[in-house]
Amino acid sequence: MSKVKKIGLLTGGGDCPGLNAVIRAVVKSAIKNFQMEVVGVLDGYEGLVFPGKTMMLGYEEVRGILPKGGTILGSSNRANPFAMQIERQGKTVSEDRSAEAVKRMKELGIEALIIVGGDGTLKIAKELKDKYGVKVVGVPKTIDNDLSATEVTFGFETAVNTATEAVDKLHSTAESHHRVMLVEVMGRDAGWIALHCGMAGGADAILIPEIPYDIEKLGKKIERREKYGSKFSIVVVAEGAKPVGGKESVIDHPDQPWQLPRLGGAAQRVADQISRLTKKECRVTVLGHIQRGGTPSPFDRNLGTRFGVAAVNLAGEGGFGRMVCLRGRGIESVTLEEAVGRQKLVDPKGEMVMAARAIGIDFCSAPDA
Ligand code: F6P
Repeated sequence: MSKVKKIGLLTGGGDCPGLNAVIRAVVKSAIKNFQMEVVGVLDGYEGLVFPGKTMMLGYEEVRGILPKGGTILGSSNRANPFAMQIERQGKTVSEDRSAEAVKRMKELGIEALIIVGGDGTLKIAKELKDKYGVKVVGVPKTIDNDLSATEVTFGFETAVNTATEAVDKLHSTAESHHRVMLVEVMGRDAGWIALHCGMAGGADAILIPEIPYDIEKLGKKIERREKYGSKFSIVVVAEGAKPVGGKESVIDHPDQPWQLPRLGGAAQRVADQISRLTKKECRVTVLGHIQRGGTPSPFDRNLGTRFGVAAVNLAGEGGFGRMVCLRGRGIESVTLEEAVGRQKLVDPKGEMVMAARAIGIDFCSAPDA
């Protein structure tokens, strides 16, 4: 029997396919195997800070949610109890409301928290543990797949499926119009989505943040293809892609130091230069949040379910301050210290990049194109 009788469950950061699978698994296994009560905390950390933003979760609440995208609990990638953005006399100010969040947990009888999120959300979980001794268990989540402590995050495969389908569809229209089609995909500083969908979709070039690109090389690649009879090209551009010696394309700078800038415009920047260099017609498709939506793939549903069950097992057995993760084929756990602040990026000399290069996909880096 578990010592913990009531747990809180919160989803933070950008949503991602598979979150509802985690929620369902947490609720079902907590009730069935540990006779725990589960309190759903709404809209990420907002639900801890502001009153009235929780709901009890039972079998009824999680019925039918497995194939649904998003999170039934809501999420926020701006709410941080240590720096809440509050409106005061028409001005937005940042306030530390963490003590209030901990007090609310006590009032609600929540003895431990299962926190599902990416690096930012899990850093806050670690801070709650370090500063107040809150009992937390982390579950890694992000379509970007950029957390080094887990082999893969749920949501990534679904995002890659969506992006690959888009690349497939763009092929036919690129060919019909003899155009250069550029597809911008998400991923922040990591090029995983771009690399996977670019390879699966047969892209001619893939531009990722880990390999700064030389625009002249891309232009030459497109002209070479033209010369040999391929009058169209498909270029997958990660939103964080940057030219050699340059920076990523940012559309909005954050107002808080712990927030990340909003990326955007990377593919358009490439398209503008390529149409000047090659005189070819270029068209840009920005997939954006479409990659975060839709029904999760079976793999993502199952990984989310396994993570949810493992998180409850940790909570039931007193394994706090840890994050569940996938290692090889099995579910394990690591400390939050090992889990946060360690990005997993594409290795420019790794096997997957080498395989892509071997079949002629160009990354347009200075030495390779
Ligand atoms: O981290 C997930 C992610 O979808 C990134 O790939 C993307 O840069 C970012 O979130 C977008 O965030 P928002 O939903 O705030 O626009």
